[in-house]
Amino acid sequence: MGIQLSLLVTVVILLAGWVAGVLPFLKFIFGVILPYVALAVFAIGLIVRVLRWARSPVPFRITTTCGQEKSLPWIKQNKLDNPSSALGTLGRMALEVLFFRSLFRNTKASLKDDRLVYSVDKWLWFFSLAFHWSFLIIFLRHFRFFTEPIPFFVGFLQDIDGFFQVGLPIIYITDVAILVALTYLFLRRIFNAKVRIVSLPSDYFPLLLILGIAVTGVLMRYFLKTDLVAVKEFAVSILSFQPISNELLNKLSPLFMIHFTFVCTLLIYFPMSKLVHLGGIFMSPTRNLANNNRMKRHINPWNPVVAVHTYEEYEDEFREKMKAAGIPVEKEE
Ligand code: HEM
Repeated sequence: MGIQLSLLVTVVILLAGWVAGVLPFLKFIFGVILPYVALAVFAIGLIVRVLRWARSPVPFRITTTCGQEKSLPWIKQNKLDNPSSALGTLGRMALEVLFFRSLFRNTKASLKDDRLVYSVDKWLWFFSLAFHWSFLIIFLRHFRFFTEPIPFFVGFLQDIDGFFQVGLPIIYITDVAILVALTYLFLRRIFNAKVRIVSLPSDYFPLLLILGIAVTGVLMRYFLKTDLVAVKEFAVSILSFQPISNELLNKLSPLFMIHFTFVCTLLIYFPMSKLVHLGGIFMSPTRNLANNNRMKRHINPWNPVVAVHTYEEYEDEFREKMKAAGIPVEKEE
C-alpha cells in the first residue's frame, strides 16, 4: 500500500509539473509562486526543527560507542569510537558525516539451518554513500544556473565528474551513480522482505521524488534539450527577487517544469520528513558529545531536591534508645 500511495503522489506531482509547463497561466503559479513558498517552508521549517532539537536538554553524555572509553591508564582507549576530547569528537563526526562510518558496520541477519547468523553487508553503505555524494556534487554543479559569475568550484567539479569523457554531452559519473544508487535503495525496500515490512510511504516517497528529479534532469541533459539560457535567467531572477516576464516563463520547457516542480516539492517536504537528518546528524547527542562519563561526574541539573534522613541524623534521634537496647553507636554523644 505504501508503495502504491507514494507512486500515486509522485505521478500526480509529475502531471502537475507537466500541465504547468503546457498551460501559460499555471506557469506563473508553478514558476514564480511555488518556488518562493518552497524556499520559505524549507528555511523556516529547518530552523524550527533545529531550534526544537537545540532546546532538548542533554544532561548526560549518551554517546553510542563501540570501543573503550578513557578510564584506567592500562585500558586502551578507542579515541575515535569513544572520544574524550572535542577534537576526537570532531574526527568521529567527520568520519560519520563524510563516510557513514557507522553504516559501514552494517550486518545482515539470516537463517541458516534454523540458526540465526549475521554476515557482513556493505552494499547499503556503498550505495548510500554513492547517492549522497552524487547528490551533493550535482547540487554544487547546478550553481552554474543559480549565480552569475559562476563560482570557481563548478568548472572543477564538472571536469572531475566528466573525467571519462564518454559521449556528447559528456556523461557525468554522478548522473549514472545517482540513478543506480537510488534504484538499488528503492528495490531493496521492495524485494528485501525484512526491509519491506518496516517500510512506510515516508520511506518510498523521498526515493521516488529524488528519482523523479534525477530522471528528468538526465532526460534534459542527454535527450530532450531545454533552453539553458532561459533557465539561467529564470533561476537568477528568482534568487535575486527580480520580476519574471511571461515571455521568459514561456521559454521554459514542460520537462524543465516537471524537474522544477519536483525540486520545489522536495524543499517543502524536507523539514517534515526523515530527510531532515541532514541537520539532525549534527544535533544528535549520541554522536556529537565527547564521552567523559568516567572522568567527570555529570549531575542531572533538574533532579528534584529529595529530603533525605542521613544515618547521622538517625543516630542523633535514637542514640539514647539504641544505647539502652545495647545497639552499638558511632558517636557516644
Ligand atoms: C535538489 C536539487 C536538484 C537536483 C538533485 C537536480 C538534479 C539534476 C540532475 C541529476 C541533472 C542531470 C544533469 C546533471 O547532473 O547536471 C539535472 C539537470 C538539470 N537541472 Fe537539475 N536538479 C536540481 C535542481 C534544479 C534546479 C533548482 C534547477 C533550475 C532552476 C535545475 C535545472 C536543471 C537543468 C536546466 C538541467 C539540464 C542541464 C543540462 O542540460 O546540462 N535543477 N538536474
